[in-house]
Amino acid sequence: MTKFPERVFSGVQPTGNLHLGNYLGAIKKFVALQENHDCIYCVVDMHAITTWQDPKVLADNIREVTAAFIACGIDPEKHIVFNQSQVAEHAELAWIFNCVARMGWLNRMTQFKDRAGKDREKASVGLFSYPNLMAADILVYRATHVPVGDDQKQHLELTRDIAQKFNNDFGPSIAEEGYGDQFFPLTEPLIEGPATRVMSLRDGTKKMSKSDPSDLSRIVLTDNAETIAKKIRKAKTDPAPLPDNLDELKGRPEAESLVGIYAALAETGKDAVLAEFAGQEFSQFKPKLADLAVEILAPISSEMQKLQADPGHIDAILSNGADRARVLASDTIKAVKEIVGFIMPAT
Ligand code: TRP
Repeated sequence: MTKFPERVFSGVQPTGNLHLGNYLGAIKKFVALQENHDCIYCVVDMHAITTWQDPKVLADNIREVTAAFIACGIDPEKHIVFNQSQVAEHAELAWIFNCVARMGWLNRMTQFKDRAGKDREKASVGLFSYPNLMAADILVYRATHVPVGDDQKQHLELTRDIAQKFNNDFGPSIAEEGYGDQFFPLTEPLIEGPATRVMSLRDGTKKMSKSDPSDLSRIVLTDNAETIAKKIRKAKTDPAPLPDNLDELKGRPEAESLVGIYAALAETGKDAVLAEFAGQEFSQFKPKLADLAVEILAPISSEMQKLQADPGHIDAILSNGADRARVLASDTIKAVKEIVGFIMPAT
């Protein structure tokens, strides 16, 4: 088995309304991984356009995700932060993967079915082949670990299937070019369990979502202290006080979600939160949750505002990151072209 150096890659789509679920489910984890890994964090603008994006808004959304990365604590100098479309190698590898992945594999993707909705004939071809581009994002850096939400688990499995099929299909060529028996690693997902899923503040059975028509359903990362506190105050709950054990949270989705949010923000378990607040009414618990949320999120929101006031600075960070990413990605593409049998430019 070839040994691959550990490298972390993840991506976030610039589709607006970055919310608490994105922070707790993804970005917070990205921040922690910087400690012990080389990390590449990508604003996946090419994925975003698989559904219609207004060009006037897209650029701002790309800058917003970048600002959020940095405001949350990602270091764009020690690690790499960039937007996908600046590194053409992602698209090049995605094409090769279009020819490796099978229709049957993509037909099984549940996210496509959900997002294409009833009229699948009208979905973009890009939405269908989306997972191949995602595999390319990851494998163009031969990344070994990918932190994602559990909704992306199936896409990560597909990424491994693609890597494995490429390694098999081109086995002799891979060996001949000196890469041993495996050119691409079988990337491991780093998945948050459902325990830290952040649900809508208006309906505890639905995930917090950028597209929920109600602004009160989500806390966005640009909300100020006052708005954060208001949304928590207005969050839907049931009339019972907080129980003293996890079992009794079952069947109380709103209560469970608020306890989960508190636990994630406090970096502790739901059981510890219940131990502290058992017996309290929501009228007592919500202000504590609001204080904690404001303490953690308000500084992020104001730092984002500062960063977004200077788009030129954000754009410079992205192009610097892209330059460094391209160096890595172009090595992979060069090797892939040799493995596949393409003729390279004469030197
Ligand atoms: N599909 C991911 C999402 O919607 C975003 C994404 C694109 C991604 N490319 C990636 C995540 C590569 C991890 C690795 O959340």
